[in-house]
Amino acid sequence: MEILDWDRLRKVASDTRTHAYVPYSSFAVGAAILDEDGKIFSGCNVENASYGLTNCAERTAVFNMVSSGGRKIRALAVVAGSPRAISPCGACRQVLAEFAHPDTPVFLSNLDGDTIETTIGQLLPYGFSGDDMDR
Ligand code: THU
Repeated sequence: MEILDWDRLRKVASDTRTHAYVPYSSFAVGAAILDEDGKIFSGCNVENASYGLTNCAERTAVFNMVSSGGRKIRALAVVAGSPRAISPCGACRQVLAEFAHPDTPVFLSNLDGDTIETTIGQLLPYGFSGDDMDR
């Protein structure tokens, strides 16, 4: 695999973060996906007065990729103004895993420059997948 341009992916995530709709938490998050064709898709969190209907940045990015025809995540970057590098929620980990490989690299960061490089498999060990329904 070619050397990933993390700076570019992080910049797209950071730019998309500025579009976050966060009137309830004021916590803006941005995510950017590099897909298998080398295309980049991004997303921000979109909150709702009915709090549970909020969509996280990571899932927005996945849905953006899929609705544009993308199917496989090659790399993911997430940026937020968190005290430590942002930690994706459990629901997003499950949705990300649907379109990624356990070895797919993930770059998590905050605005202070704290970063964590991890993988989808490390974020969701022993995750449920379609393979578990094979008989
Ligand atoms: N949020 C994300 O968008 N991604 C994460 O990784 C963590 C949480 C959003 C959901 C909600 O809009 C706000 O952050 C506070 O939970």
